[in-house]
Amino acid sequence: MIFVTGGAGYIGSHACVELINAGLDVTVFDNFCNSQPDVLTRVARITGKAPTLVQGDIRDSAALEAALRASGARAVIHFAGLKAVGESVQNPLAYYDNNVLGTLRLLQAMTKCDVKTLVFSSSATVYGDPQRLPLTEDHPLSATNPYGQSKLVIEEMLRDLHRSDPAWRISILRYFNPVGAHTSGLIGEDPQGTPNNLLPYVAQVAAGRRAFLNVWGNDYDTPDGTGVRDYIHVVDLALGHLKALQRLALHAECRAINLGTGVGYSVLGMLRAFEQASGKPVPYQVAPRRAGDIAACYADPSLALSLLGWRAERDLTAMCTDAWRWQSSEKG
Ligand code: NAD
Ligand code: UFG
Repeated sequence: MIFVTGGAGYIGSHACVELINAGLDVTVFDNFCNSQPDVLTRVARITGKAPTLVQGDIRDSAALEAALRASGARAVIHFAGLKAVGESVQNPLAYYDNNVLGTLRLLQAMTKCDVKTLVFSSSATVYGDPQRLPLTEDHPLSATNPYGQSKLVIEEMLRDLHRSDPAWRISILRYFNPVGAHTSGLIGEDPQGTPNNLLPYVAQVAAGRRAFLNVWGNDYDTPDGTGVRDYIHVVDLALGHLKALQRLALHAECRAINLGTGVGYSVLGMLRAFEQASGKPVPYQVAPRRAGDIAACYADPSLALSLLGWRAERDLTAMCTDAWRWQSSEKG
């Protein structure tokens, strides 16, 4: 049994599918602040098996501990958290509360239940403005906004915890830019309001829901002047969590591992790929740089390959095709 916080969310729901497909039982603990309960019905439609669902907030220690104990889980995958960079600048305390305090409460509940295996959702944002590319895990860490700072604080908390008790088994997965959706078209990213992230916005323009994409700056030091990122298919990302659990079954360690493809694509490159996959035009206009953005960010994913035997398999066409299928479905 695996206990999955935030399992109804974008990445968590795809991870649930892969966990269940691998024969594992799953308990999802989610407060639905950024997801809908019917996602789990969709997970059951894909896999033939529903995860157990407990609605609750990770900051509610009693509810969390009771759910963890009742699940009988021996490992936790921790996706629950807030993730909007701009919102974190406006409301930093919400991020320290939900992300940092929430994780602290989770670690306390795990300690009480003697569950010491954890896979944590970190982010490439902890590398700050890259000093060198590709990014290796030993690159200096920094944060440029409260969201990133919350991830950094949690990472430090996890390293301190492991130092104090080496029986803990912790995998800190640093995601690059997750995109795409499950090939069934039943689950995907479902942003509320105006999407902050590139691909959901591009998908809505292609669908005719928005008139054009704002390209935030074309004067970066990149091949076409637009920002370059390491986009990774969410199913590949989900599979990385299974591999991390498999490694933790054999190693009591606390390690940070990049999950990316190692390849960077520009905003205009993504736009063209999406036009091809969808067969729809994606009009755009160049707008000023977005505050806090960096020119380029992509992973050196070789540690994931050597330690986990994992590498991203799905290419840009699959990312765009699957995102478009989801966007074109009744839900997306
Ligand atoms: P998401 O918002 O789709 O999923 C998060 C889930 O956690 C949601 O279902 C939400 O309802 C739940 N949740 C939030 N706070 C909670 C709380 N206090 N108690 C219980 N449930 C709570 O986000 P996602 O894209 O699936 O991201 C999952 C994790 O991965 C997050 O920790 C995020 O910071 C991290 N991450 C995401 C990205 C990305 O671009 N999507 C990149 C790097 C890291
Ligand atoms: N972009 C546009 N127009 C848009 C949206 C984005 O031009 O409407 C550009 C950005 O300027 C950037 C690129 O598209 O160059 C990607 O932007 P995203 O917002 O999709 O992704 P970011 O790399 O800025 O941030 C994402 C997550 C963060 C996480 C970071 C690193 O949103 O939470 O990846 O993992 F920290």
